Amino acid sequence: MIELGVNIDHVATVREARKGREPDLIAAAKICELAGAHQITVHLRQDRRHIQDRDVEHLAQVLQVRLNLEMAAVDEIIAIAHRIRPYVVCLVPENRQEVTTEGGLDVASQAKKLKTVVKGFHDDGIKVSMFIDPEVDQVDASAETGADYVELHTGAYANAGELDVLGELDRLAKAAARAINCGLIFNAGHGLTIRNLAPVAAIPGLNEVNIGHSIISRALFFGLENAVREILAILDEYSA
Ligand code: PXP
Repeated sequence: MIELGVNIDHVATVREARKGREPDLIAAAKICELAGAHQITVHLRQDRRHIQDRDVEHLAQVLQVRLNLEMAAVDEIIAIAHRIRPYVVCLVPENRQEVTTEGGLDVASQAKKLKTVVKGFHDDGIKVSMFIDPEVDQVDASAETGADYVELHTGAYANAGELDVLGELDRLAKAAARAINCGLIFNAGHGLTIRNLAPVAAIPGLNEVNIGHSIISRALFFGLENAVREILAILDEYSA
């Protein structure tokens, strides 16, 4: 069964446009949960442009499904994660100017530091995922850190033109196979939509996808429950 994490950051983006209470992030999370999502994903950015500390605290209290906290591996956010204790943290690169997470985390250049971060989370019973580009050396470095999962960045695949899309899919499949060989659980995310999800879902061993922007976008027209369900229906077709 391929599982779905719904990234609800953009519900908070709309709320923060007015710094008010609407739309209600917790209600959104609960609708995703009721529609069958297996996980709620949020990114607590250092600039707090969408998700706020209190959101993560509330979600940790009320969710029945898993909470996946995306975060930069910086001291301030690491301390918050240790305090709130989500089910899993997904370590991502963060650049204050970016519109969204642009590339994968360069685990290979900081494997030693990240190994310590992973151990700290494991000591607190928190699982760790590395959000990386689909490259074998990044997979190997992730395994070295002791992480539980890699989330392969599907942005290049999602943005590829007709000429490059098969090559990008092949990169994903090769990195996925390497991850599984290394004993890592393989997840995927970024830029996935109802139109481009199927070939990724067909990659052997896929455990979970995290999808945000396209679900929240389609929710504007079809409702959040329907937007979640249509992704789940695609995943179902490719689930063993
Ligand atoms: N996974 C990770 C690690 C991300 O950083 C993001 C974007 O915040 C997503 C998945 C979801 O990407 P999208 O919003 O493009 O579906």
